[in-house]
Amino acid sequence: MADAFEPTNILVTGGCGFVGSNFVRWVAKNHPETHLTVIDKLTYAGDPKNIGDLPKSQVELVVGDICEADLLDRVVAGHDAIVHFAAESHNGNSILDPDPFVRTNVIGTYRLLQAARKYDVRYHHVSTDEVYGDLDFDEPRRFEPDDPYRPSSPYSSTKASSDLLVRAWARTYGVRATISNCSNNYGPYQHVEKFIPRQITNILCGLRPKLYGTGENVRDWIHVEDHSRAVWDILVRGRIGQTYLVGANGERANIDVMRAILRLMGQPEDGFDWVEDRPGHDRRYAIDPSKLESELGWKPDHTNFIEGLRQTIAWYEKNESWWRPAKAATEERYARQGR
Ligand code: NAD
Ligand code: DAU
Repeated sequence: MADAFEPTNILVTGGCGFVGSNFVRWVAKNHPETHLTVIDKLTYAGDPKNIGDLPKSQVELVVGDICEADLLDRVVAGHDAIVHFAAESHNGNSILDPDPFVRTNVIGTYRLLQAARKYDVRYHHVSTDEVYGDLDFDEPRRFEPDDPYRPSSPYSSTKASSDLLVRAWARTYGVRATISNCSNNYGPYQHVEKFIPRQITNILCGLRPKLYGTGENVRDWIHVEDHSRAVWDILVRGRIGQTYLVGANGERANIDVMRAILRLMGQPEDGFDWVEDRPGHDRRYAIDPSKLESELGWKPDHTNFIEGLRQTIAWYEKNESWWRPAKAATEERYARQGR
């Protein structure tokens, strides 16, 4: 039987980023009785506009760094839950400079766990399927919660480290923690450095989309709103100390996603460039979400990927003022890497 929990005042870290802001908007809409405090450093990936239209009485923004223990001491007390999204999230950046990844993803999580422990606050940790490494293309199995950790990149190894801290703090200090490991999200407000927004905005800018390596790599796509709802379900009904995998049976090879974007945007299907592969590039991710489905009754709402992609393209077409400021610098960074 799942533990019942009704949060009234949640501290959301990284609530100005892609997934965190979706969670904040989702909770504000679906649970208007819940107050949310967002703590966000506003790195290149955080934009207060992502939650700017929500009522100030319901959502408060504290600009700050989760690595600062004094700040957490002031902010955490009085909340009944922490939902931790804040991270350096991009594999490509972690290869160029792992430093902020170790700092934010490992030290930041450690500081939050210490604060959750000190103030006895329920803690949910948002993580990634990449902690499990990768699968062969023809391997029948998918990732399961108790699989061994085998991260490949600086990003995924820092996320794996943070998960292990959570497991230890739950067992040793009794922190009331849960962990979710989710597959690749897509949807509105995703930074233009990531695969799907990069290709959409390249086409909108008259640039050619870029496909790494052979394009065979498989990602398991889930709409960001389905991820947000899963995080809520785990927060309120998940069993303390447990790990839940979040995925929507959305495995697709990158080349197929690329061709779908080109088709939906009226471009020829070969209208992209093959570019140098990412070092250490994971081959395939695949999530078995059956624990989340059977224990908590979660199911994805967005089951038609092509329709979700069509809506995501329409969002980027309509919201050029949101993504335009980051586009040139992002492409310059990629050009320097030959990608
Ligand atoms: P993102 O890069 O879009 O957003 C990260 C947010 O964290 C930004 O608002 C940034 O300003 C903030 N932040 C970074 N360092 C901080 C610090 N030191 N203190 C306070 N705030 C800080 O990332 P995202 O894609 O939204 O991912 C959010 C979380 O979800 C991450 O933990 C990531 O590992 C996890 N996740 C993401 C996906 C995905 O496909 N995007 C899939 C699975 C899990
Ligand atoms: O699996 C969950 C993870 O998904 C999250 O933990 C990460 O935060 C998130 O960034 C994402 O990681 P990926 O490395 O899979 O995402 P990215 O969007 O960078 O790349 C997706 C795939 O597309 C990957 O196989 C690399 C490829 N790619 C990426 C870019 C930016 C290209 O072929 N061309 C590109 O231009």
